[in-house]
Amino acid sequence: MRRLVIFAAATLVAATAAFAQNADAIKQRREAMRAIAQAGGDPFKMMRGELPFNMAPVQAVLKAIQDNAGKFKAGFPDDSKTGATEATAKVWEARAEFNAIIDKWAADAKLTAAAITDEATFKVEYPKLASTCGSCHGARGGYAPGVGDSFKRMQTPLQ
Ligand code: HEC
Repeated sequence: MRRLVIFAAATLVAATAAFAQNADAIKQRREAMRAIAQAGGDPFKMMRGELPFNMAPVQAVLKAIQDNAGKFKAGFPDDSKTGATEATAKVWEARAEFNAIIDKWAADAKLTAAAITDEATFKVEYPKLASTCGSCHGARGGYAPGVGDSFKRMQTPLQ
């Protein structure tokens, strides 16, 4: 009986630990993506001509991508497929391709940071990098919902 109780308690602790790890990973990757998406808001409006060009926010989002890509990539362990997430099963089915998009994204952000020196170069270089969002989001990517729907999620605080 005593052994059974100890076994039951140990199982509970293990289950709780697994659940906590899962929730932590989801939170980690969502935080990383939020940092990038938040920094990307103004540059996106500049791209559409809704805000005047300003170098500081452009360089900030390019830095945010480089700083958060690794954290995002590390946030998809096998036990984090379900829960407070909108990542699709494709992330785990096509992991090599998913990881390659992230690595190229971070490397391109670095190149883009060097290539953008003024408004003219911003207009040429930034849209190329921004198209990477669609490599994962929406029907083309298939790893997450459309960017517009994902942005709506940012109105709810992360737990
Ligand atoms: C490598 C693939 C990939 C790229 C590139 C990518 N995303 Fe994501 N994004 C995801 C996945 C997967 C999720 C879902 C994460 C989850 O819910 O677990 C996500 C979630 C989000 C969210 C929701 C964050 C939240 O509150 O949970 C926003 C907003 C977002 N992405 C915006 C963007 C924007 C803007 C870009 C381009 C600058 C971008 N993403 C590029 C894969 C990507």
